[in-house]
Amino acid sequence: MKILVATEKPFATVAINSIKEVIAESGNELILLGKGSKDDFIKAVADVDGLIVRSDVVDTAILDAAKQLKVIVRAGAGVDSIDLDGAKKRGICVMNTPGQNSNAVAELVFGMVLMMVRNQFNGTSGSEIKGKKLGIHAYGQVGKNVARIAKGFGMEVSALDPFVKDEDMIADGITPLHNVEELYQNNQFVSLHIPATNETRNSIGEDLVKLMPKNGVLINTARKEIINEDSLIKALREREDIRYISDIKPNKAEEMQKEFGTRVFFTPKKMGAQTAEANINAGIAAAKQTIAFLKDGWNKFQVNK
Ligand code: 3PG
Repeated sequence: MKILVATEKPFATVAINSIKEVIAESGNELILLGKGSKDDFIKAVADVDGLIVRSDVVDTAILDAAKQLKVIVRAGAGVDSIDLDGAKKRGICVMNTPGQNSNAVAELVFGMVLMMVRNQFNGTSGSEIKGKKLGIHAYGQVGKNVARIAKGFGMEVSALDPFVKDEDMIADGITPLHNVEELYQNNQFVSLHIPATNETRNSIGEDLVKLMPKNGVLINTARKEIINEDSLIKALREREDIRYISDIKPNKAEEMQKEFGTRVFFTPKKMGAQTAEANINAGIAAAKQTIAFLKDGWNKFQVNK
């Protein structure tokens, strides 16, 4: 059977080589599509049985063209770029590869935090994160890795996640919180790990950010869509001590950089999962999951049941 790997943001070469090996060993045929036009994607997907993507958009046009498609595996966590219902209607299983790139994202959180509290390493006096309070907004795979690293730094960690039991957070040595206001009120650092869904889009704005203690730092390695940008701008305007770090430029990046200078930092392109290790982990997991589904319907991580 044919498996298309269509990733606009390329996997590291070492990951691609491993994916090639895994697919060749399974007796399936690999088709690789790097950065190209939507038409290229539409043509390439026409006769494949499996599709592996990163945050590439899989919409009606792609699904309509994919006449043979049985499974889509997102090499990563977020499935907001895939039309899940459209896939379901067509009998296509969609899976992600939970946890495979989460350490990479969590490490970037601290890379960006240290850069911010040390004033972009510009030679001036900054501050430390030891002993400071970090609140984790959603305690999934990335949130757990963030907590682990934060404890190494000597931070006091708490988290809000209605889907995780208190005892599981306590076992990890962190404090469970039960309302969102408390999360922002209690923590100088808040790290966002909520997915982009109809409920969460535009959900983070001034009402929460303004609750943060003095010198609050909001860190977003989740999705830009969860931020209400106009409302965040208002908060940054009214609270001159607050800073915002985001792994991907907001839509209003230029306006924000002009007005807030070094109080904001944005990566030019989403790069949380852009490490060789994360590419290998997520890429191989995606290849194995695709093969297992095509062979005997294995669907442990299906997200569109
Ligand atoms: C994810 O959802 O897994 C991360 O945001 C990484 O996305 P990417 O594979 O597009 O870098």
